[in-house]
Amino acid sequence: MSQFHPLRIASCRNETRDAVVVTFDVPDTLRDAFRFVQGQHLTLRVVVNGEELRRSYSICSAPFENTLRIAIKRVADGLFSSWAHENLKPGQVIDCMEPAGRFHVPLEPAAARHHLAFAAGSGITPVLSIIKTTLAAEPRSHMTLVYGNRASTSVLFREELADIKDRYTARFNLIHILSREHQDIELFTGRIDGDKCDQLFKHWIDPSTIDVAYICGPRSMMEAVSGSLRSRRIDKSRIKMELFSDALPRGPRSPRSGAECRAQECKVTVVQDGRRREFSFARNQQTVLDSALEQGFELPYSCKGGVCSTCRCKLTRGQVEMGAQYALEDYEIARGFILPCQSYALTNELVLDYDQDS
Ligand SMILES: Cc1cc2nc3c(=O)[nH]c(=O)nc-3n(C[C@H](O)[C@H](O)[C@H](O)COP(=O)(O)OP(=O)(O)OC[C@H]3O[C@@H](n4cnc5c(N)ncnc54)[C@H](O)[C@@H]3O)c2cc1C
Ligand code: FES
Repeated sequence: MSQFHPLRIASCRNETRDAVVVTFDVPDTLRDAFRFVQGQHLTLRVVVNGEELRRSYSICSAPFENTLRIAIKRVADGLFSSWAHENLKPGQVIDCMEPAGRFHVPLEPAAARHHLAFAAGSGITPVLSIIKTTLAAEPRSHMTLVYGNRASTSVLFREELADIKDRYTARFNLIHILSREHQDIELFTGRIDGDKCDQLFKHWIDPSTIDVAYICGPRSMMEAVSGSLRSRRIDKSRIKMELFSDALPRGPRSPRSGAECRAQECKVTVVQDGRRREFSFARNQQTVLDSALEQGFELPYSCKGGVCSTCRCKLTRGQVEMGAQYALEDYEIARGFILPCQSYALTNELVLDYDQDS
């Protein structure tokens, strides 16, 4: 899982002025490694001006399409996305980690469920995969998408969504919310915030019918939507969220409260691919991930900001204190999963198991 594989780019297509859709060639030898489920992402690695950059991008194709495709939206002053827009071209080879992430629910072909998705901007990428997969795999289920953008020209996958609507007229409800373009229905103009959600749930979407909700976009929008859903008694366990952070903390992280007064050494055992290896570090200095990387351990990571879950592993001995944590669900924390990129040791011994996934 933590391994990078070189993948050749089959095509690059500009989807909007600031978003490029990249399709990879997956050789037969890597077919199994790059099998994915709807809603998962890839981590890409490039070296730009001598600096290694790792970023995660959600897969926008559906597993049944037999295509591995992502969309990269250009972020102002963003290192990776700017580089990608200027440099990626067909034939180029890029290091990619195997698909990862838990932004999905198991499909139930016999179910008649109502899946509701809220997406904003590039947050549509995993949601597009979820929509295509779910409508195809659950013939009795319905899907509602509330998709926020500035204007119709910035709507990613506008045509593909319209095609899906044509194909599944009775089962796919598509609502575009535009913040800088007036629409005939007043409710569909503006931003997706708490008030907009309340109005949608009052006039357009019956919350009592919702079985599963997916939210992907900026943090403020995700918090507003989940708050509105929770206030309508939609349990947290039925709300799946994926944060695309575009403003992660930079530079060295500092020790957290519980860990900072302790200066002892911590012995860490890493269980990975059936092997056990050990290292020690001063536990108030760095996160567990940074310490391991400094000592030459090749561990999986991407954002280092507690967002992408690429570094996730199970803590089978010891205790840590986590800083920012947006990627783990409550049940994962209860089972002992941690994000080493945000973890400071609270005990003198830790065992990190990368081989346990559940
Ligand atoms: C699971 C997951 C899936 C994702 N899927 C997608 C996807 O499908 N499509 C997509 O487009 N994106 C996706 N993202 C976001 C993507 O990973 C990148 O975060 C995004 O492309 C920006 O990367 P960048 O290198 O261009 O920007 P960065 O260089 O990381 O900069 C991001 C922002 O921070 C600002 N910044 C730069 N330096 C500093 C500083 N010193 N202090 C404060 N701010 C600073 C920049 O101005 C910029 O606005 C996903 C993220 C996650 C975690
Ligand atoms: S590296 Fe992204 S959550 Fe740890």
